[in-house]
Amino acid sequence: MGKYYIETFGCQMNEFDSARIAYLLDNEGYTPADKIEEADVIAINTCAVREKAKNKLYGHVGNLKSLKKSNPDLVICIGGCSAQNLKEIILKDFPFVDIIFGTHNISQLPELISRRKEINQSICEIKNNGFDYVLDNFKNTLPFKACLPISIGCDNFCSYCIVPYVRGKEISITPEEVIETAGKLVSGGVVEIILLGQNVNSYGKDLDKPVSFAELLNDIARIDGLKRIRFMTSHPKDLSLELIDVISENKNIMNHIHLPLQAGSDKILKSMNRKYTKEGYLGIIENIRAKIKECFITTDIIVGFPGEERGDFNDTLDVVKKVRFNRAFTFIFSKREGTAACSLKDNISIKDKKEWFKELLIIQNQISLEENQKIAGRNFEVLVEGEGNKGLMAGRLENNTVVNFEGDKSMAGKFVNIIVTEARSFYLEGKVLK
Ligand code: SAH
Ligand code: SF4
Ligand code: F3S
Repeated sequence: MGKYYIETFGCQMNEFDSARIAYLLDNEGYTPADKIEEADVIAINTCAVREKAKNKLYGHVGNLKSLKKSNPDLVICIGGCSAQNLKEIILKDFPFVDIIFGTHNISQLPELISRRKEINQSICEIKNNGFDYVLDNFKNTLPFKACLPISIGCDNFCSYCIVPYVRGKEISITPEEVIETAGKLVSGGVVEIILLGQNVNSYGKDLDKPVSFAELLNDIARIDGLKRIRFMTSHPKDLSLELIDVISENKNIMNHIHLPLQAGSDKILKSMNRKYTKEGYLGIIENIRAKIKECFITTDIIVGFPGEERGDFNDTLDVVKKVRFNRAFTFIFSKREGTAACSLKDNISIKDKKEWFKELLIIQNQISLEENQKIAGRNFEVLVEGEGNKGLMAGRLENNTVVNFEGDKSMAGKFVNIIVTEARSFYLEGKVLK
């Protein structure tokens, strides 16, 4: 059938979708190409969350034109969130693209490729909603670790965010299907599973027989042989005390919560439609710290939201200093066409936004470093993932921090004990204990 090459931008949900594409193309008899130049089918899985993501897509797709020239039979497929969002523009600007497929049309991709080979015309297939696939039909890249969606889409409509528009309404996958798939993965050798959803904490409310995320997690934790369970993303407005209890009571649920703050000011949180306050957020952190031992807390923060003033930004800094996040992913607000925040008056100069952003980064990096320094000299169990930087091996602590150490490739997928020898802001260095 030929060879395929998949490129993925964006979040872990897109990574999972790419694993589904790989599975479907393998089933058709295609084989993976080592280089994009060798491919007969190229699938680009795009992200739309910030303007930069779109610009990246444009540069990238533009570059594919020369490949098409040297191989006229090449089938170029553009999928993912930007395809969902910008279909007309992509077709107009890049007439050499063969197929545009939406985030709900992945199952159709093999059929679209066959159809494209028969007709001399670009194809565009975009559905707005739906969950129409078998959960375990994906090609897992690491034999010992897998991502697994528990819900797709999002109903929260945070005012800055494009995701609800490109991923459709929230649909929970039944607990039976999630647990069965997780069980199969574990029987096949997987020891770590990351449960995915835009807001895992609202899981299950839409099911015929409603189930909470805490209940699902508790059931998954019972799977024999499943050593590590992670999940993301948690929305603060739906994080329950029951969930905190389940995490603290199960050894195989890891002590890491990614809890996007977005902003510290009540005024900005309201305008973002986040549905919690600064005090409410700090209260959740207190509950987490009281119950979950050494819980690693990471976050996302947006700087320069329309209407944000210096005093509002100070509230963000205040939360950052009070919580002492282990890590924060920080973004300058990016206007997304079609979202509610798009019509808000943006009063802050880009110069100010960049300065605040830098200020936040310096403070947070120092906190990340200090928190990591606290664990230098201690021993931890590490799941080895593979080769890291500078010829070292890399693995993760239970709390998700990456540690680099001397070792060999045969260690991948195994648990080892490591002493932390050196702390950096975003990773650690260590030594394997014999
Ligand atoms: N569902 C997740 C992830 C959403 S996208 C959640 O609710 O946290 C990941 C992050 O991108 C968000 O948490 C937010 O911090 C950032 N983001 C989303 N839209 C953005 C925008 N328009 N401008 C800047 N950052 C944005
Ligand atoms: Fe976007 Fe908010 Fe949904 Fe997260 S919860 S995907 S930030 S709308
Ligand atoms: Fe993910 Fe980007 Fe889409 S963050 S859901 S790939 S817009």
